[in-house]
Parts: sequence; C-alpha cells; structure tokens
Amino acid sequence: MKILAINGSPRKGNNDFILDNILSYAQKKGAETSMITLRNLNIKFCSGGDYCCPKTGKCVVNDDMKDIYGKLDESDIIILASPSYFSNVSAMMKNFMDRCNPYYFNKKLKGKKGFLIGTGGKEKSIREMLEIMGNFLSILEIEHIGSYCAVADKKGDIEKNQKVIKELKDIGDKLK
Ligand SMILES: Cc1cc2nc3c(=O)[nH]c(=O)nc-3n(C[C@H](O)[C@H](O)[C@H](O)COP(=O)(O)O)c2cc1C
Repeated sequence: MKILAINGSPRKGNNDFILDNILSYAQKKGAETSMITLRNLNIKFCSGGDYCCPKTGKCVVNDDMKDIYGKLDESDIIILASPSYFSNVSAMMKNFMDRCNPYYFNKKLKGKKGFLIGTGGKEKSIREMLEIMGNFLSILEIEHIGSYCAVADKKGDIEKNQKVIKELKDIGDKLK
C-alpha cells in the first residue's frame, strides 16, 4: 500500500504536523509512505497550452512536476492537505491541481483513493475549501475515502490538542 501526501502549506505548521503524524502511524501499520512538500519544489503554472489534451495526456512543462507525476501514478492513496486561504486552497495547492490536468485526459488516477485534510481558523472556511478539493477528486475519478477538518489557526495550535492527536492516530491506523 503506497500512500502519497501532497502538502500545500507554505510554512512548516499545522498541515506538516498533521501529515507527519498520519504518515508515521500508517507506516507503523505497514504502509509505504512519502510526502511531497510543494513549497520546496519548483513547480511552474500550467501554461494553458492544451498540450496535454486530448491525445498525449502528458504535460510539456519541464520542472519538478515530472517526478510528482511518477509518484502519483504509483500511489494507491493520495492525501491532499492545505490551509484554507480565503475559503479556498493555498495557491501552491491550486497550482498543483492545475498541473494535474493531464490526468483529466489520461485517467491514470481513476480508481485511486483520496483523503483530504484542511486546516484554518474557522470551520466554515475549512469545509468550503474541502468541498473544492472534493471536486478535484471527483473530476479525476479518485474515490473520496475521507476528510479531516482541523480548526487550528496559529502555527503550533494543533500540537496542543490531545483530541486531535488521537484522531490523527485513528486516521493513520485505518488508512487503506
Ligand atoms: C493568506 C491567508 C488567508 C487565510 N484565510 C483563511 C480563511 O479564509 N479561513 C480560515 O479559516 N483561515 C484562514 N487563514 C488561516 C490559515 O488557514 C491557518 O493559519 C492554517 O492553520 C494554516 O495552516 P499551516 O499552519 O499548515 O500553514 C488564512 C491565512 C493566511 C496566511
């Protein structure tokens, strides 16, 4: 079981903590896990050139997305994590989503499983963002197996919450 997490936060904060915990518990249960932290990579914007569609299903932009496509192709479960920014995903996560346009044509993610994580100061904002992320999964025909909504605003907020830590263990233990 290969679990790939895509971390869309621009800082080492709440999403990093959540993902580190979930992945370490999943690993203890035997999963092969890895995390892609978008802020550390060079990922250009989608050029909108339609080179990926409809025939090739391949992106022509030459950057770090090349490695990510390979890892997405090999994964069984894809976790997407983002802070809510103005009730939407972070710009990094949106850029990642746009660069997944080849999958709309080549259908290589169809049937994989997707789990969503959202953080933010207000639950309503997080849920609005999770809906947008859910649309991404459904357009690419990825099975939406669950979501986690973490109300945490300041960096480190999440680490103080024992209930959250227990919930992250439960998610990591059960991911399959
Ligand atoms: C530009 C910006 C916009 C934000 N917009 C919202 C928002 O609309 N709703 C919300 O609940 N939190 C909002 N937040 C708060 C972040 O979602 C929150 O700090 C989150 O925990 C950040 O996650 P991270 O620590 O993993 O980066 C915003 C923060 C920033 C920097």
